Amino acid sequence: MSDTTTIRAVDAAEAARRLPELAAILMDAVTHGASVNFMAGFTAAEGAAFWRAQLPGFAAGERRLLVAEAGGRIHGTVVLSLAHQPNAPHRAEIGKMLVHSLARRRGIGRRLLAAAEAAAQAAGRTLLLLDTESGSAGELLYRSCGWIEVGRVPDHAFTPAGRLAETTLFCKSLGPHRSPGDAATEH
Ligand SMILES: CC(C)(COP(=O)(O)OP(=O)(O)OC[C@H]1O[C@@H](n2cnc3c(N)ncnc32)[C@H](O)[C@@H]1OP(=O)(O)O)[C@@H](O)C(=O)NCCC(=O)NCCS
Repeated sequence: MSDTTTIRAVDAAEAARRLPELAAILMDAVTHGASVNFMAGFTAAEGAAFWRAQLPGFAAGERRLLVAEAGGRIHGTVVLSLAHQPNAPHRAEIGKMLVHSLARRRGIGRRLLAAAEAAAQAAGRTLLLLDTESGSAGELLYRSCGWIEVGRVPDHAFTPAGRLAETTLFCKSLGPHRSPGDAATEH
């Protein structure tokens, strides 16, 4: 499937039209035990509400949504969130790195992550941060893509099944970093 999968940015209007598909990807991840902020029993309505709440950020360009698409269907997502603090014009976070359980281990996650890193660099964001449950597929993905472990937080979050689990924090530098005075060049 990965050879027919395209990775592309989706704007707020398209995301709004495709809320059910985006919700389905998030629900699938939670159902399969991924620690992505939600608990077991997560519903399609809650998934749609999560993505709906992201729309203003997408519209403002503070967040960028990239999807993996094949056959007109979304199979994966990643969100790049640009730091808004005046002292961090070079920083961004990666989140909602999700590949549908039926499409995993075909390189789609790696391609989504690479596209998010490229989008960050294009936006002048050269220090990237993320966190993931220790021992998860995400941790293995990030290590395999050159991300550096910053540290581990015991008992950071509950898994969907209700077990407290450790989180690993990662960073990746795409430097050199711009300074606050250069922030006007952002696009
Ligand atoms: C993490 C996730 C996005 C990976 O997506 P994917 O498309 O399956 O990843 P890829 O096929 O691109 O894998 C790239 C590399 O990551 C590592 N990797 C990914 N999943 C792995 C797994 N289950 N077991 C071992 N290694 C894994 C491997 O090194 C792999 O390279 P290889 O296949 O050549 O060995 C996917 O498993 C997922 O959506 N999980 C649920 C949500 C989640 O936990 N997201 C991350 C935290 S926010």
